[in-house]
Amino acid sequence: MSIWNGERRRIHMQEVGTRDGFQAEAAFVGTHDKIALIDALSKTGMAKIEVTAFVSPQAIPALRDAEQVLREIERKPGVVYTALVPNMRGAERAIDARADELNLVMSASVSHNLSNLRMTQEQSFGGLKQVAAMARDASVPVNISLSCAFGCPMEGDVPESTLLAWCRRFIEEAGARGVTLCDTTGMAYPRQVANLTAQFIERWPHTELTLHFHNTRGMGLANVLAAIDSGADRFDASLGGIGGCPYAPGASGNVCSEEIVHALELMGYDTGVDLGALIAAAQRLPSLIGHDTPSQIVKAGRRLDLHPLPADFAAIRERALQRDAAPRP
Ligand code: COA
Ligand code: ZN
Repeated sequence: MSIWNGERRRIHMQEVGTRDGFQAEAAFVGTHDKIALIDALSKTGMAKIEVTAFVSPQAIPALRDAEQVLREIERKPGVVYTALVPNMRGAERAIDARADELNLVMSASVSHNLSNLRMTQEQSFGGLKQVAAMARDASVPVNISLSCAFGCPMEGDVPESTLLAWCRRFIEEAGARGVTLCDTTGMAYPRQVANLTAQFIERWPHTELTLHFHNTRGMGLANVLAAIDSGADRFDASLGGIGGCPYAPGASGNVCSEEIVHALELMGYDTGVDLGALIAAAQRLPSLIGHDTPSQIVKAGRRLDLHPLPADFAAIRERALQRDAAPRP
């Protein structure tokens, strides 16, 4: 499945570490450090970068510098610089700061929508439509993210029919260019992912579908592979595997960008990402956030990052060979 028409199949990687990642961090990452990190990520070959969120600074103080960050990053042609927006106020701010795309969000779960966005789902969707209309007037495309699409930590599973009904409204009523199915707290499992992905693509083959997984229960990569097998080609991931919604109990890191790129490239997919440059960016994270990250690749290196032979290797070999030469008793 990784080779289509003699070419490596393209998988689009979308970095969310500076939004989903930093929103979950206790430490405030300095504005210039954020800008430098995003500039480094731009050079890695990511298709899209979720730069920041234009949310209330009281709700998410870590992203209170959203305007400055989005305005001052160096934009690489071809990379889409998106930003999360919860309401009209956020949309005005993001459009003003020249976001390429607005990422609107609501939850598939009644209780998570109320606790995260402080609105009922209908109120959220009404707001989404208004924001989408405003974005259309400003010629800025809109993506809509459906949180808790693979389960809610407070309610459990959300029926597939409910999920697809929200997707339909996002596309047909709000005019979304793309939809992201978010596994906000790592409840997704491969068969569920494969089913939902296949149904979405069958119904809306021309809508940009993104899968957004968290690795909370270690199923992140398995879910990515299941989605690819069902036809998906766009994934959110975060540098170092940091991340998590502060309003979802038990949330933890996104799937890790460098781990996903490492695995997909080995499997013959074309992510367009320079893995060495991505790992170098990930190595900068601990000093910015003040702690280690979950990234396995930063710790272990790439599969073929070989280690030197033991210092006494020549002596070991010599002794082994002598055993052959010695006369048998
Ligand atoms: N940008 C800046 N400030 C905003 C804002 C925005 N997009 N939206 C609301 N505010 C400010 C208001 O001006 C108000 O400030 P004040 O108290 O100084 O007057 C304050 O936030 C509360 O505004 P209100 O309209 O009453 O909103 P709320 O308290 O119901 O908050 C949200 C609603 C969703 C905007 C807010 O909770 C939020 O931004 N949450 C973050 C959600 C999030 O990012 N979760 C993680 C990602 S999934
Ligand atoms: Zn997330």
